[in-house]
Amino acid sequence: MVNGASLVMPYLEPFLIRTMREALPQVSDAAVAESGRAFNTQEQHHYQAHRRYNELLKRSRYPELANIEADMTASYARLAKRSLRTRMAYTAGFEAMTLGVTRWLVDYRQTLFGGADSRVASFILWHFVEEAEHKCVAHDVYHALYGGGPASYLARMVGVLHGSLDVMWYSMRGYRAILKHEGLWFRLSSRLRLARRLGSFVRHVSPYLLRAMLPGHDPRQEPNPQWVDDWLAGHAAAPDAEVPLLDTRHPDLPVPFAHAPSGPVTRIAA
Ligand SMILES: [Fe+2]
Ligand SMILES: [Fe+2]
Repeated sequence: MVNGASLVMPYLEPFLIRTMREALPQVSDAAVAESGRAFNTQEQHHYQAHRRYNELLKRSRYPELANIEADMTASYARLAKRSLRTRMAYTAGFEAMTLGVTRWLVDYRQTLFGGADSRVASFILWHFVEEAEHKCVAHDVYHALYGGGPASYLARMVGVLHGSLDVMWYSMRGYRAILKHEGLWFRLSSRLRLARRLGSFVRHVSPYLLRAMLPGHDPRQEPNPQWVDDWLAGHAAAPDAEVPLLDTRHPDLPVPFAHAPSGPVTRIAA
């Protein structure tokens, strides 16, 4: 599932950046505009890292993923022709989903990443910590451009479904291709395990989507998991040259910073 989602990022996130870049000249609030530029920098780092990771996946084992990439290229080219409001609503809608995904990944980190390759687990959790960090930005920019009237609300509500379901669909195609390659897609035990994971994902993420679709929704009302705030505090206090690596053999998968409120550490010098 994580590899499938990773496949989408180098198509989705450049789209988010282009949309944000187009919207920002219309934002008069300097603080919101500045947070939009910071958002773009974070998303740029995300998709560049995902692209390198995906290239590794394709080169070493799953060349067939390139077919899905070709479909995503065409899909995002079609989406680029839609109005800025539709694209900004998609952007804010996808960002609303990431908060639920962050909660799911963090609360179930032991089950999902326990014993896993530390580099991959750290990479994915790093990304979603930053998603929580910039959770308000797309929403604020959308509001700066379109306000909170009924038409704006309706478009934003549709954007929650549009952005989330689109990304979930391409992620699913990605992990389906991977499971097929491994001969697991038609194996009952594997499908049951996947169904359990998906059930857990849907149970955790849908309330975030439903709340995001309500009038007057504000992502500020969604509290970060404590683990995320500990990571952000740990990162702020850590020297720049150190790479945070999770100890995936630790029963708690503590945040990977010595100075964080909760944590013994695995760290390496960059
Ligand atoms: Fe991102
Ligand atoms: Fe994001």
